Amino acid sequence: MKLSIIIFLTFLAFGCKTKTHKQESAYQATVTFNEAYRPQFHFSPDSMWMNDPNGMVYYEGEYHLFYQYYPDSTVWGPMHWGHAVSTDLVHWQHLPIALYPDSLGYIFSGSAVIDWNNTTGLGNDNIPPMVAIYTYHDPVGAEQGRIDYQTQAIAYSLDKGRTWTKYAHNPVLKNPGIIDFRDPKVFWYEPDKKWIMTLAVKDHISFYSSKDMKSWQHESDFRSDIASYGGVWECPDLFSLKSDNNEEKWVLIVNINPGAPNGGSGTQYFVGEFDGHTFTNENKELFWIDYGKDDYAGVTWSDIPKSDGRRIFMGWMSNWQYSQIVPTEKWRSAMTFPRTVTLKKENGNYRILSNPVREIKNIQEKLEIVSDLKPNKKGNYSGHLPFRSSPQELKFTIESKSEKLSDFALTLSNDFKQQLILGYNAKQQQFYINRDKSGDVSFSNEFTGNHIAPFSINNSEIKLQILLDVSSIEVFINEGELVMTEIMFPSQPYDLYKISGSDIKVTQFEAIRLKSIW
Ligand code: FRU
Repeated sequence: MKLSIIIFLTFLAFGCKTKTHKQESAYQATVTFNEAYRPQFHFSPDSMWMNDPNGMVYYEGEYHLFYQYYPDSTVWGPMHWGHAVSTDLVHWQHLPIALYPDSLGYIFSGSAVIDWNNTTGLGNDNIPPMVAIYTYHDPVGAEQGRIDYQTQAIAYSLDKGRTWTKYAHNPVLKNPGIIDFRDPKVFWYEPDKKWIMTLAVKDHISFYSSKDMKSWQHESDFRSDIASYGGVWECPDLFSLKSDNNEEKWVLIVNINPGAPNGGSGTQYFVGEFDGHTFTNENKELFWIDYGKDDYAGVTWSDIPKSDGRRIFMGWMSNWQYSQIVPTEKWRSAMTFPRTVTLKKENGNYRILSNPVREIKNIQEKLEIVSDLKPNKKGNYSGHLPFRSSPQELKFTIESKSEKLSDFALTLSNDFKQQLILGYNAKQQQFYINRDKSGDVSFSNEFTGNHIAPFSINNSEIKLQILLDVSSIEVFINEGELVMTEIMFPSQPYDLYKISGSDIKVTQFEAIRLKSIW
C-alpha cells in the first residue's frame, strides 16, 4: 500500500477520536507564528494550504472558524476542513482537522448551523447538534469526465465541534448534472419553519428548502441583469439585515472567480426581498463587498445570539490568480479581519458598510495622537509611523481646502524604498491602491497594476481607517462605505508615511499599536 494511502487511512481511523483540552493546547503549543510575512493579528493556519472560510458558527461562547485546508502541502489539494475557535473573534486557538476527505470525495466549502429544534434528529434531549453542510467533490468522477461529481452532504457534532460524525446516508442533495454545484450556506427560515440552502450553481444561485436537512426541495433560481458573469459563482450567503432607514432587507452575497472589478476573485452582492421561496434584487447597480484584490469567498457567521444582533463577515485574504505562488514558505494565506456589516440606503440602492469588529479593542495596545501635523514646504506630510514597523491601526482625516475632496496619495514605505500607495483621483472619482513596488512582486504579473474603486464624494473631507499587518492592508473609508483589502510582501514592514496632494490638509492622525494574537 502506498504511504500516502496508509497515512490517509490512519487519519480516517484516528481523526474522529475525542481530543481533550490538554491535547488541544498541546496542539496549539507547536505553533510559532514568527516567520517572514506571518500576519500578527489575522488568522492564518499554523502550516500548509488554506483557502475559504467555512462553517462559521457561534455556539456556547465560541466562534468557530472552519476553513478549506490541505495539510500535506502549501498549494491546493484534497480538501479538508481545518478548525479554529475564538471567544472574541480576534484570538484564535487552532484545533485538529474537523473533516477529512472520504470515499465520496474532498470536503469543499459549506456552512454550519446549530439545529436548535433537533429537526435532523441527530442531537439528543440535552444537546442540539452542530450541523455542517458541505460539498463533496468526487475527484474520481471529475477525472472520468462526469458532470455530476459535486453533491451536498451533512455531518454533525455533539461536543462543540471537536469531533464529527458524517451522516450515514450522504449525499443529502444529489447533483442534477451541473459541474459547478457547490458551497451550501444554510439558515433557519422561521416564518415557514424550514431550512433554506443557498447554493452556487455555475452562473446562478439555487435556493432549496428542507424540514430536516436530509431531503431538500428546489425552490427557485436567481440570476440578475446587473450581475457579474465573468467566472463561476461560488460561496453564496443570504441573510436579513435592517437598513439605516429601518427597512428589513435581504442581502445575497455571491462570490465569483474570476470576474472581480480588479481581476480574479471577488465578492458581489445584491439586496432585496426573500419570501421563503424566491429572492428578488432591488439594487439598480452592482456593488462589491471589497474593491481590493484580496478578499474572497467571504460569508457571515451563523447563530450569533439575538442579544448581540450583529452580522459578522470574514473573507479569505487572497486571490486565485496568485494565491498558490505567494512567497510564504510554511503556510499560505490568511483571513481578513472579521467585519461587522450594516446596510445603508443611498440613491435608491442598499449598500453594505463593513467595519472591523469592536473586539479589535482587545488587541489595541497603545494610542498615539499625532498632534504636530505640519506640512513641509511642498505641502506634504511625512515621517515615521508612530509605532514604526509594528502592526498597527492608522486613522487619518484628510480635508481639501476647496469644496470637494481633491487628489491625494498616502504612501507607506520602508528603508528598502518598497512602498504601497493608497490614493484618491478626484477627476475619475476613484480610490486606488498601487503595490507595484511594495516588496516581492516577482511571482505574478497579476499582482501589480492600479487597483481601483469607484467613490464619489460631495464634500471636502474623508476619513481613513487602516489595519496594517505584516503582509496585508485593509482600508476602511468613511466608516466602511468603501473597503479595499490587499496583501503585500515587503522585506521589512513599512515604517514611513507620506501624504501628498496640492490642496489637502491632514486634520487628524492617530495610530494604535496592535498586539500580536499569537
Ligand atoms: C472557492 C472554492 C469553492 C470550493 C472551494 C474548494 O474558493 O473554489 O467554490 O468549494 O474553493 O477548495
